[in-house]
Amino acid sequence: MFAVHLMAFYFSKLKEDQIKKVDRFLYHMRLSDDTLLDIMRRFRAEMEKGLAKDTNPTAAVKMLPTFVRAIPDGSENGEFLSLDLGGSKFRVLKVQVAEEGKRHVQMESQFYPTPNEIIRGNGTELFEYVADCLADFMKTKDLKHKKLPLGLTFSFPCRQTKLEEGVLLSWTKKFKARGVQDTDVVSRLTKAMRRHKDMDVDILAVVNDTVGTMMTCAYDDPYCEVGVIIGTGTNACYMEDMSNIDLVEGDEGRMCINTEWGAFGDDEALEDIRTEFDRELDLGSLNPGKQMFEKMISGLYLGELVRLILLKMAKAGLLFGGEKSSALHTKGKIETRHVAAMEKYKEGLANTREILVDLGLEPSEADCIAVQHVCTIVSFRSANLCAAALAAILTRLRENKKVERLRTTVGVDGTLYKIHPQYPKRLHKVVRKLVPSCDVRFLLSESGSTKGAAMVTAVASRVQAQRKQ
Ligand code: GLC
Repeated sequence: MFAVHLMAFYFSKLKEDQIKKVDRFLYHMRLSDDTLLDIMRRFRAEMEKGLAKDTNPTAAVKMLPTFVRAIPDGSENGEFLSLDLGGSKFRVLKVQVAEEGKRHVQMESQFYPTPNEIIRGNGTELFEYVADCLADFMKTKDLKHKKLPLGLTFSFPCRQTKLEEGVLLSWTKKFKARGVQDTDVVSRLTKAMRRHKDMDVDILAVVNDTVGTMMTCAYDDPYCEVGVIIGTGTNACYMEDMSNIDLVEGDEGRMCINTEWGAFGDDEALEDIRTEFDRELDLGSLNPGKQMFEKMISGLYLGELVRLILLKMAKAGLLFGGEKSSALHTKGKIETRHVAAMEKYKEGLANTREILVDLGLEPSEADCIAVQHVCTIVSFRSANLCAAALAAILTRLRENKKVERLRTTVGVDGTLYKIHPQYPKRLHKVVRKLVPSCDVRFLLSESGSTKGAAMVTAVASRVQAQRKQ
């Protein structure tokens, strides 16, 4: 009995010491409530800068009009095709919206690989590849004889002047195909599809994945007016009053704005909170100097941040008895799924040991506890930053509506949010703390980003049909 108590005492002392050590080392990554409130204020200012005509050209946060004006009202129906390019996986779908008057969405889908040669090669070849995958899908699903409208989820910043047009402003995340920037992706894909004479597809809409997520959630919950992605990349959209959108004519009603919040800080607005690890990660990335906020938050980068921290700690003799392995020196060897596994409640510690051993290290018990805590600090910071920007959007919505309390729903999708055991809880808690005047419901949208393009297309064809009546 005495031995058991002694063991427990020893373990909690060990844990306390390791946590203290890591906390001291990563002091700069732990953001206080005051700092979060400050970031929230800064993001509000960025939103205004992006919305106003004279400041938009130099704004880091682009606040892009999406030309999505209506959320689903439940009367949409029909069969639609949808493509999802830019998330963790490339997917082609057939979506059936409502059947026999019943409100539900049914989908059949197929994933296709996106090798680096395609996504970082020649732009025309990228679109030809996408068109080939669509043709293959239509053939296997026996759809070639049908004329179907298509919605494209294209998860990159695009300048739009209508729903069925999107000029790529810049590639983000893992994509870097040549000759696509500044061109309309809808015309590019339409042209590539012409090579398939037996395919009759009309692209009715191009939407960002955040917009798709919001629309999918809005189909189930009419209060949904915000869409957030926390996956490979991160971003949010929300419904803004037309009277505040300088870049689009007209003052009536609302339009969905794709904030492209991943670029927050590209004008050095976040330099005071960026750490040496953020700078090192940025220098080794595909787009140095770009997507600063995203690089502190999203799934494509969290694992790499953890690796850079562990390497530095090992070099300083604070981990693994000062030993480093060649895997620990290799970019990309720690991924977000590893971070999520290390932070699991019960199996976390055992997972950590296994992952470190796979990296060619010989961790002690103390090392495993310390590494687990590094992961916690990095993912906590991510959730905190997301919460601060989201809180700014919610405050803006409340003020636009001129209400004391805002009741609203936020649709969320993205691999990090879905696979990380503690992420959703942390995010929700901080948002509620930062905006006590909002009653927020978070709605996880399964495949929302993908289904959403079909939803937008469905709404567009409903509106089109209503106009004809
Ligand atoms: C990147 C893209 C953005 C997208 C987000 C999530 O930030 O620029 O358009 O919504 O990733 O996929």
